[in-house]
Amino acid sequence: MNVLFAASEAYPLVKTGGLGDVAYSLPKALHARGADIRLVLPGYHDLLRQLDAMRIAGWLEVRGSERTLGVRVLEARHAAYPFPLWIVDCPSLFDRPGNPYVAANGRDWPDNAERFAVFARTVALLAQDALGLGWRADVVHSHDWQTGLVPAFLADLATPPRTVFTIHNLAYGGYFPHADFVRLQLPAHWWSPEGVEFHGGLSMLKSGIVYADAITTVSPTYAEEICTPEFGYGLDGLLRSRRHKLTGILNGIDTEAWNPATDPHLSAHYSKARIQPGKRHNKRALLERFQPVDDALLDAPLLGTVGRLVEQKGIDWILAAMPVLLAESDVRFVVLGSGQALYEEKLQRLAQQHPDRIMVEIGYDENLAHRVEAGADVFLMPSRFEPCGLNQMYSLRYGTPPVVFRTGGLADTVVDADAPHCTDGTATGFVFDQPALAGFLDAIRRALDLYRQPKAWRRLQQTGMRQNFDWSESAGHYLSLYAT
Ligand code: ADP
Ligand code: GLC
Repeated sequence: MNVLFAASEAYPLVKTGGLGDVAYSLPKALHARGADIRLVLPGYHDLLRQLDAMRIAGWLEVRGSERTLGVRVLEARHAAYPFPLWIVDCPSLFDRPGNPYVAANGRDWPDNAERFAVFARTVALLAQDALGLGWRADVVHSHDWQTGLVPAFLADLATPPRTVFTIHNLAYGGYFPHADFVRLQLPAHWWSPEGVEFHGGLSMLKSGIVYADAITTVSPTYAEEICTPEFGYGLDGLLRSRRHKLTGILNGIDTEAWNPATDPHLSAHYSKARIQPGKRHNKRALLERFQPVDDALLDAPLLGTVGRLVEQKGIDWILAAMPVLLAESDVRFVVLGSGQALYEEKLQRLAQQHPDRIMVEIGYDENLAHRVEAGADVFLMPSRFEPCGLNQMYSLRYGTPPVVFRTGGLADTVVDADAPHCTDGTATGFVFDQPALAGFLDAIRRALDLYRQPKAWRRLQQTGMRQNFDWSESAGHYLSLYAT
């Protein structure tokens, strides 16, 4: 089966969040199960410089915004990938430094409509073997709004390949004014409330939902949630009407890259059979990155978090919880993240006020992310909504029980350490039910209580570390969906 996998980011070439992890680990898992994969990515500045071997696969003329662009398609190899990558090389759109979606000022690149319309048009052409490479897609699997137009372009063909569209986050709709729709000369028959139109503008996400043969999202609970007004961003009605083609498939994780027994980012290795002294060694190394460490400091619980600093992640609850917990216990915090300036500033201010107890690193740092997962005692992830979430799975695997809100993929992956689950040995973390600071604080206090009971804590860690979050089951679900 020939599967064309189209995404706007993929680890380790370009990554802003979990989509990058999934666009790396899922196609690899599909390849291992016999699918013939091509992964197609935009030729961003930083990405082009990381490719190992490449050749020009051909040139395509692709309509952009009131112009036609010459797009060079590269076929490249990269050590992390066992199959070829196709790179859409169009320098005026993609060869710029920095983030793939936003400029240095934090605002969306002003030409995002053109960038991702040209990318989608090129993907649709490659699926039909417009370059005569002798490879035609049976299935085209695209992801999030950046590739939402792909199923629409393909739906217009006489004999289209099967299209699967995955929603990683409904909060990002890929909205553009009607003027962009006109400038991009998108097919006029798409323009209706049954097509890509959304509140008078164009929604690339909606396009994926409307035109794909199958829609998936990244956890069973999120698949239910997005059909409700609370989580639906105005698309819940549409999603309810497409329920027959909507499936929730839980993300897997790359269990090689995220393995505390072999992780090259860690200063000591450990496993569920022998958590200590390895984990404590990582805690020391993590703390030492920020301050001198003595044994008393090592005994105090360390609460860690890694993530995009946006409202979705409940970072405001973390900010509000910090002073309360500092006053009532000996906890320390370590935070790695970047995002909204307001949250970055508040975190830095708190870290300045409590330099020995709040450690903050603003930025994106893959190495430090692994070290926080391993070195913290408890992982905080109080997301208001979470389509799947990978960090809580990493933290479970690293023996760092997570504190999470019961939503989306968090609800599907973490089992609360309430009395029944502690008794039957299935507990893996701390789950709160009310979306409010009080619930979050209560869950953290429960975590700190259990942390003081070494035997019970070790059992909780080991149960989490035993969970199997690899792709074996979910990759099978995708393959059956492709074959339907
Ligand atoms: P989301 O995709 O919503 O950001 P996920 O939990 O699915 O959330 O995935 C986030 C991914 O991005 C994880 O691999 C996490 O380690 C990584 N990540 C997020 N922020 C940072 C950061 N500041 N530095 C390093 N890695 C980060
Ligand atoms: C999105 C979601 C996150 C999910 C990731 C990968 O960014 O916010 O919950 O894990 O995509 O699917």
